[in-house]
Amino acid sequence: MNYILAIESSCDESAAAVLKDGCHLLSNIISTQIEMHRKYGGVVPEVASRAHLLAMRPVIEEAMAEAKISYTDLSAVAVTYGPGLAGSLLVGVNIAKGIAAASHKPLIGINHLEGHIYANWLLEIQPQFPAVCLVISGGHTDLILIKDHGQYIRLGGTIDDAVGEAFDKAARILGLPYPGGPSIQKAAENGQSYFRLPRAWLKDTYNFSFSGLKSAVSRAVEEKQITNAADGAASFQEAVADVLVKKTLHAAQKYGAKNILLAGGVAANLVIRQEFQKQSSVPIFCPPVKLCTDNAASIATAAYQKFRQGQFTDHSLDVCPSLKLV
Ligand code: KG4
Ligand code: ZN
Repeated sequence: MNYILAIESSCDESAAAVLKDGCHLLSNIISTQIEMHRKYGGVVPEVASRAHLLAMRPVIEEAMAEAKISYTDLSAVAVTYGPGLAGSLLVGVNIAKGIAAASHKPLIGINHLEGHIYANWLLEIQPQFPAVCLVISGGHTDLILIKDHGQYIRLGGTIDDAVGEAFDKAARILGLPYPGGPSIQKAAENGQSYFRLPRAWLKDTYNFSFSGLKSAVSRAVEEKQITNAADGAASFQEAVADVLVKKTLHAAQKYGAKNILLAGGVAANLVIRQEFQKQSSVPIFCPPVKLCTDNAASIATAAYQKFRQGQFTDHSLDVCPSLKLV
């Protein structure tokens, strides 16, 4: 029996999960700080790390209790060590090291982005290689070719704002609450995408740019071409989905991908998910909403692959706030 306890604290969610034999999720506990950061309109790093300090231990204890196992049963302790906020990552890494040392278990350091990708291995059917994965989160927008477990080639990514950041900024311009992604999705349900916002195609590359789109929303609001938040949200969401879907489908065709995987917080967006399903002839994998945004279950799934390959991490592990996937 293999049991992995995973810990995630890279941004504003304190999370812990226990995974059995790589696919049975025994617990998946998430304590979010969204309410604490809402009044600031974004995540305040020091507030985040202090909140992790208070939340992390009870979250881990709840995850272990729900899994009905003890620390001695664990096969390994996994933890996100980057990318993310340094002060937040430090809390998770320190507590993971403490548990691993006290229970004489191996430690597995996980790249947060790899965690997002591996949420797709918690689905009933496993993805096939080669796969093209679109990682869209608050801090990242990357198009990745996955040749095999742990073998990544970066095809492209954003040259300015991450797509989640663009959602958050556009929401602020439209007067919608933080976090912007869910607010825009909700507002758009009552809106019409009548206003044609620009798409940055960045021809012949798999790169993305979203800063012009955000400026265009701002201009359209100032010039009263967009007069209500719902229509602005619908127009924005449509423009984002258009670029993400077309570029990803092009890459999937070029590289003969057997599957397209969506990952990261923005992959929770229902319009983006629907457009992929509608337009793709390649099967789309997309984690359930709760496993798109930050969680430790995905970290545990990524760690299981490392465990199988005997890839353990030295207890001198440090955090790496700007860690890259490739
Ligand atoms: O992956 P994640 O939880 O944290 C990071 O690793 O960054 O992603 C957070 C981002 C935020 O920008 C949030 O606005 C966005 O994901 N998001 C969404 C939705 N839910 C969360 N964006 C669009 N539609 C959603 N439903
Ligand atoms: Zn994330």
